[in-house]
Amino acid sequence: MQGDAFLKCIDPNCGLEYPINSTNVQCEKGHLLDVKYKRTPNEKLKEIFAHRGMMDEGVIFNESGVWRFRELLNFCEIDTENIEQCSKFLVSLDGAEGRQSKPYHMTKVSAFTEISNDNLWLQPEGYNPSGSFKDNGMASAVTHAKMIGAEKIVCASTGNTSASAGMFAANEGIQCDVYIPSGQIAPGKLSQAYQFGAQIVEINGNFDDALKQSLDDAKNHNGYTVNSINPFRIEGQKTIPYRALEYLKWEAPDWIVYPGGALGNTSSCGKALMELYEWGWIKKIPRIAVINSEGASTLSDLYNGKFQEEELRWNKGKPNTDLIKQYYDHLDQEGIKPKTKATAIQIGRPANILKGLRALEFTNGIVTTASDSEMLDGMSVVGLNGFDCEMASGASVAGIKKLLEQEIIKRDDVVVGILTGRQKDAMLPVDYHNNPKNRFAIPPKI
Ligand code: F0G
Repeated sequence: MQGDAFLKCIDPNCGLEYPINSTNVQCEKGHLLDVKYKRTPNEKLKEIFAHRGMMDEGVIFNESGVWRFRELLNFCEIDTENIEQCSKFLVSLDGAEGRQSKPYHMTKVSAFTEISNDNLWLQPEGYNPSGSFKDNGMASAVTHAKMIGAEKIVCASTGNTSASAGMFAANEGIQCDVYIPSGQIAPGKLSQAYQFGAQIVEINGNFDDALKQSLDDAKNHNGYTVNSINPFRIEGQKTIPYRALEYLKWEAPDWIVYPGGALGNTSSCGKALMELYEWGWIKKIPRIAVINSEGASTLSDLYNGKFQEEELRWNKGKPNTDLIKQYYDHLDQEGIKPKTKATAIQIGRPANILKGLRALEFTNGIVTTASDSEMLDGMSVVGLNGFDCEMASGASVAGIKKLLEQEIIKRDDVVVGILTGRQKDAMLPVDYHNNPKNRFAIPPKI
């Protein structure tokens, strides 16, 4: 295999390798792939990253919250100091992806979750250009799409991926097809896909059905898939924990908490931490906590042994994949569909489940669930601090609260919760506040 970067199957018993310009999102046996790098980056880069973050010289790749870490995701194998090369290869929304993202203290959230304000950090990813964390990974996935000369990108989406893909595609002047579960995505997300000129394909089914159809169509019609099973999406999303860690002076927190849907975030956080630890850039491994919605709890059910009493684990690369199949068969036989008002994470078959399990094993992670009303409270208390987030992001707050109550997270632990997207379902806060029974409701005066 030539060069520094290549693709490798995540299954240690398979381990198939492919060149970096391969268009497969999976190995030929259908396993997920990792982007791998042969070289170990020099820790002195930490200083360069910090400097780039402060510079204001109109270099968009230094302003970008993704590309200022470009040495850690240099799958294009460019000279990262050469701005002309950066401009030729790296896809960016004028440096805006990840630029506004850093962890904040939010006093009302810490009071609500009962942890000291100094110990709780929340990182809003909704301030990305398309309004969600997806822009981090879309910058890198579309960079790879451009690198291999793709003319059309394709995704299935609960709304944020399609908004992000549409925005990047319009910027790059390439086509974009988005597969949407009809009637099941927030209006603000659907309108973004139209606004950015994506070709919408309405699927009469849920996200899992839309993903299946989009993968088939991409294969048969030369489309480049930009869902999170694409390993290049994962590379860009590694910068979410990078920014949190950098802000904390690379002192790893005890916990990083995410809502769980297709588990791209869990996978990318896990990969980022595995690499940083292997390079000696962090001395401690934060634990990942994944919060499923109660109504879409595949990972939680399997991880916590709620299905057939076996606790599904990565098991050093030998997970019991039959158990996953049996769980999906059970969902089909019983006609169980994922159901939550937090439509972003209304997902029954998390495509990255195996990478997610690997991340949980490496970080000694935890999985739990939050109800719709808990997620709405979480979303609303974030709002009371003057920050915007959507209902699925409220899962991070709800999960932190629950895990503190259960004493899984300790009161003196340092916790970073990721707020994955901004509000795109305009009526949710209106309905929440008009119901005086809701914990944080401020009903209108009439
Ligand atoms: N939060 C938000 C706001 C999301 O849009 C998503 C996923 C998640 C959390 C879950 O993240 O999949 O990495 O576990 N949205 C996808 C979409 C599925 O199509 O926009 P994950």
